[in-house]
Order: sequence, then C-alpha cells, then structure tokens
Amino acid sequence: MLRNVKDAWWRSMVQLRSDVVGLDAAILSPPQVWEASGHLENFSDPLVDCTECKTRHREDQLDDPDTCPSCGNSGTFTEARAFNLMFKTQAGPVEGAGAEVYLRPETAQGMFINFKNVLETSRKKPPFGIAQMGKSFRNEITPGNFVFRTREFEQMEMEFFVPPEEANDWYEYWIRERHQWYLDLGIPEEQIRLRPHDDDELSHYSSGTSDVEFLFPWGWGELEGIANRGDFDLIQHATHSGQKLEYFDQGTGERYVPHCIEPAAGATRSMMAFLMAAYDEEQVNDDTRTVLRLHPRLAPYKIAVLPLSKKDTLLPKAEEVLKMLQPHFMCDYDITQAIGKRYRRQDEIGTPYCVTIDFDSLDDDAVTVRERDSMNQERVPTSDLVNYLTQQLAL
Ligand code: GAP
Repeated sequence: MLRNVKDAWWRSMVQLRSDVVGLDAAILSPPQVWEASGHLENFSDPLVDCTECKTRHREDQLDDPDTCPSCGNSGTFTEARAFNLMFKTQAGPVEGAGAEVYLRPETAQGMFINFKNVLETSRKKPPFGIAQMGKSFRNEITPGNFVFRTREFEQMEMEFFVPPEEANDWYEYWIRERHQWYLDLGIPEEQIRLRPHDDDELSHYSSGTSDVEFLFPWGWGELEGIANRGDFDLIQHATHSGQKLEYFDQGTGERYVPHCIEPAAGATRSMMAFLMAAYDEEQVNDDTRTVLRLHPRLAPYKIAVLPLSKKDTLLPKAEEVLKMLQPHFMCDYDITQAIGKRYRRQDEIGTPYCVTIDFDSLDDDAVTVRERDSMNQERVPTSDLVNYLTQQLAL
C-alpha cells in the first residue's frame, strides 16, 4: 500500500506532467550541505528536563508548561535547550573531523544541490519542478501515534522553480492541486482541510506555508506542507558552494534566481490517513462486514483469484486464470476455507475485485467477478476478463 501511495504521487507529479522531472539523490551529505540549508543551525526542538523525575520533554508539546506529564510535579523544568534532530555518522575509513556526514532529514536539499545538473541536462526552463521520494531520518523526541511520527519515514517532495513574479500564483496553484490529490484518492471532504500557517509558525525559509491536514482519531494532523520558499535555498547553496545557481535564457539574455514552491508530503503518514479514511464496518444480514473502501489505485491487491473448492479439477483452471491476470494486476490467490470467508478476508484488505472459478467455468470458460463495495456479482468470459477488469479498475 505504501508503494501504491508513492506510485500514485509519482504518477500525478511526474508521469502526467511535462514540467516536472524525477530525481534520486543521496541520503548521506557532508555538513556543508546542512550548514547552507540552515539545518545545522535551525533544525532543532526545544527540550526541557524535569528536575524531579529526570524525564525529557519537548517544551512546545507540553499541555501545561508548569506540570511534568510523567511525574505530575509542577514548576520543575530546566531551561530549554536546542536539540538538533539530524542523525550524524562517519564516512570513509578515517575517524574524526572531515569525515562527518548526516542522514538527510528531508529529501528537499537533494533537489537544490542538483539544481544545476538538472537544469543543464533536462533542457527545462522555469516554471519546472524536480521531484523525489524516499527515506528521511529525524531523531524525533516523541515518535508515536503508530507511523504518524517515526524516526525513519518516507517523504514525497517536489521543488517547483518559477520566475519570481509568478511565485504567488504557483503557490496558490499547488495548494489546490495537492488538496485535490487526496480527495481524488478517496479522503472525504470533511476529513481533510487546508490550514495556512500563522506568521510565527513559519519555517526559517518560508514566506508562506499551508498545511494539508487530516482528521486523525486524536485530532487534526499534518499530511503535507506547501511552502513558498522564495529564493532562500538557491541563494544559500550558491553562497556556500561558490556556484551560480540561476536561470539564464540564452535567447533573451535574461538572468534570474528562480523562486521555489514546495509541496512536501509524508508517504508513510499519508498511507495511514488513507487507511483510516477507508476503514468501514457495515451490517450485512446478521453479520458485521469489515471493509476497506480503498481507492483501487491504493489497494495492495487489485484482484483475488478464488477457486470455489480445492478439488483437483478446479485448481488447474484457477491457476490458468491467475497466470493470465498476474502480468496486469497485483493478484492474491486463496484456496483455503469457505468462499464467503475468503470474500470477507479480501474485503478487509480492500481488494476491489474477486474472481471465482466454479465448476461451470470448466464448461462455459467464464468466471464470477464480485465487486467489493456493492458485493454485486457478474459472469464474465475469461477471454474478456483482462479487458473487463482494466475498465472496471480504471487505474
Ligand atoms: N522539505 C520540507 C519538509 O521536510 P516537513 O513539514 O518537515 O517539511 C514534510 O515534512 C512532511 O513529511 C510532513 O508533512 C509529514 O507528512 C512528513 N513527516 C515529517 N516528519 C515526519 C516523521 N517524523 N514521521 C513521519 N512523517 C513525517
């Protein structure tokens, strides 16, 4: 499912556009990169220690700044200290200064430090974007709420470089696009909202940020931030590297530092939101049916192939159908227990279609296709099956 969330993002942000290119940059980078980006100086949380029980807390997450959430004593905190969230390690065989490297706390900087390479090799001109998905690492003080906040997680980020005078329009454009992406993939309107940051919340690089938030069981939580980063990053990296990071139009002689609009999403966190939004229980006759109403694009399996019985006569036909479908769709194959139980198992993991092979299939070369949400069943000739399912799934 995580792979499907990332594929859906890549399809919408790279495949279906001609103004965005993909990138896969390094995870480890030297301190110079993080000095230029501002992460060495600014990427920290304020930590306080309880002087009574010695537990450590994020000052900005204390519900009551006077009371320790661990021991309940009041007025017992140390002064806040900045705790940098980046993981540090060593590169190469020699220990000590010079070999220090950091695991990336965001994928974004890979796009900025490769800006010149991409510009020179892709023949793009602003407005254009560089997109990348992958692991990021933060030494979070308070990981938790399942995969909402972890120390190792996946991001899906795009840096969209634009002529400075167009920055605001593109900022508004990407807010609309990114909000719509979650709606198109099945998150209901009432469970998702856009929240512009107040001035005192803005990151050190941002002149405007709006978050896409999902209504988690514990309240609204951020899935993605869309930020207007101005020319902060390119100027910083140009200053620190001594390289010109700008756009030069050979035709008109125009030269400028593009501004950058960044939609930055969490893949793991979004997956969790899609999972929660899809979960449903409904009454079917005397029974409660658990069903994940996942968008077909996000469902881990698109099809389950189910022979009605384990009889030797049915299995070869079922395997033949499975082999026919596998090159086109992710398929599950389940031969254990009664067919009703197997349908319910597939409902629970969100499989949009079940294909059942019964004894009639041996004579009429047709199968029964059952749809997850309506539970409607239709008889389909196996020769039409790939086409039929392709149309129904509309992937
Ligand atoms: N380049 C900008 C940037 O990284 P961010 O708001 O810090 O912005 C973007 O991160 C997204 O990454 C967040 O909206 C969230 O979905 C995800 N994210 C950040 N920290 C996370 C963590 N510790 N665990 C899971 N997801 C996280």
